Amino acid sequence: MGTPVRSPLADLRARLPELTARDAHRLRRRIDGTERLRDEGRRRAAADEIAADIEAAERRVERRRAAVPPIAYPAELPVSQKKDDILAAVRDHQVVIVAGETGSGKTTQIPKICLELGRGVRGSIGHTQPRRIAARTVADRIAEELGTELGEAVGYKVRFTDRSSDETLVKLMTDGILLAEIQTDRLLRQYDTLIIDEAHERSLNIDFLLGYVREILPRRPDLKVIITSATIDPERFSRHFGDAPIVEVSGRTYPVEVRYRPVTDPEDPAADPDRDQIQAILDAVDELALEAPGDVLVFLSGEREIRDTADALTKHLQGGAGSRPRCSRSTRACRRPSSTASSRRTAGGASSSPPTSPRRR
Ligand SMILES: Nc1ncnc2c1ncn2[C@@H]1O[C@H](COP(=O)(O)OP(=O)(O)OP(=O)(O)O)[C@@H](O)[C@H]1O
Ligand SMILES: [Mg+2]
Repeated sequence: MGTPVRSPLADLRARLPELTARDAHRLRRRIDGTERLRDEGRRRAAADEIAADIEAAERRVERRRAAVPPIAYPAELPVSQKKDDILAAVRDHQVVIVAGETGSGKTTQIPKICLELGRGVRGSIGHTQPRRIAARTVADRIAEELGTELGEAVGYKVRFTDRSSDETLVKLMTDGILLAEIQTDRLLRQYDTLIIDEAHERSLNIDFLLGYVREILPRRPDLKVIITSATIDPERFSRHFGDAPIVEVSGRTYPVEVRYRPVTDPEDPAADPDRDQIQAILDAVDELALEAPGDVLVFLSGEREIRDTADALTKHLQGGAGSRPRCSRSTRACRRPSSTASSRRTAGGASSSPPTSPRRR
């Protein structure tokens, strides 16, 4: 007996782990099929074809690797300061929970941390957002931070618009889109990493995704999953994923002072018993105007209230600051340009918060 010679097919098989997960899967099945061929000549011809396809697939991976832009992190963001911890946790575990205060940089920085770790090459980094508008604006922001054009290294896909391609390294999408993709890509092989963002929102889509992703993990050992959440109960996500590690990121904190200003105050004989909400807001804005310069956010529960309040504020603040209505649902009325802009701007947003005046000092 001579030294065992590896068959050409075994050599080809050994090259699969470097390919994209999709190509590896496709070519593995072809190698399996070729192995079953009895005819030596046909087997050799098929192996040659597969070898050519593997070369093309290797070039694809090389192109993707070369497309990773240089990565820098804004130093002031808490996530940047925890970057090494997050990087090590993702490197060493299949699932990681990142819990952090709002504005700490989870959404914008974690995809970049994944790229630095070499993710996004053998498959895209799929990054979900609960809302369509967020998928687009976050993609825009990450592309900008990476110094690339939207639709190249960073793309997005929402209903009716797909700005992603085979070249996309980071793909933003709504969680609904990722759910829909499961129908044609059961093991989500187009991704090597998934970031399920804002998981604390626990919508039906997010819950389905969390359930489904847990099921496929054993069949996709190369897949990394990052769940990001506000700081509310990240342990639940950890338990769901077999005690996955939690990286906690502190927020950028500012002292907050809460002052209550009831619309009408029956206790105060000097108060106007007929004051309405809009007047109460104008009074609160005037009160804040006497303090250090800054912006004011007014949260309101509906689009009409936002519009009426914005109109009243614009009139009230004439010559001074402008007001800029903003709604969670983007309608024409809410996209009107701000009337003026100066040291103090006022924005109305849809929310159920009462009209109190918390402010940064
Ligand atoms: N489109 C943008 N334009 C300007 N600055 C932005 C933009 N998007 C994010 N930022 C800045 O980046 C910081 C981090 O934002 P990011 O969305 O990554 O935080 P987050 O931790 O995901 O917050 P949240 O819990 O609210 O989702 C923000 O505080 C903001 O200063
Ligand atoms: Mg976020």
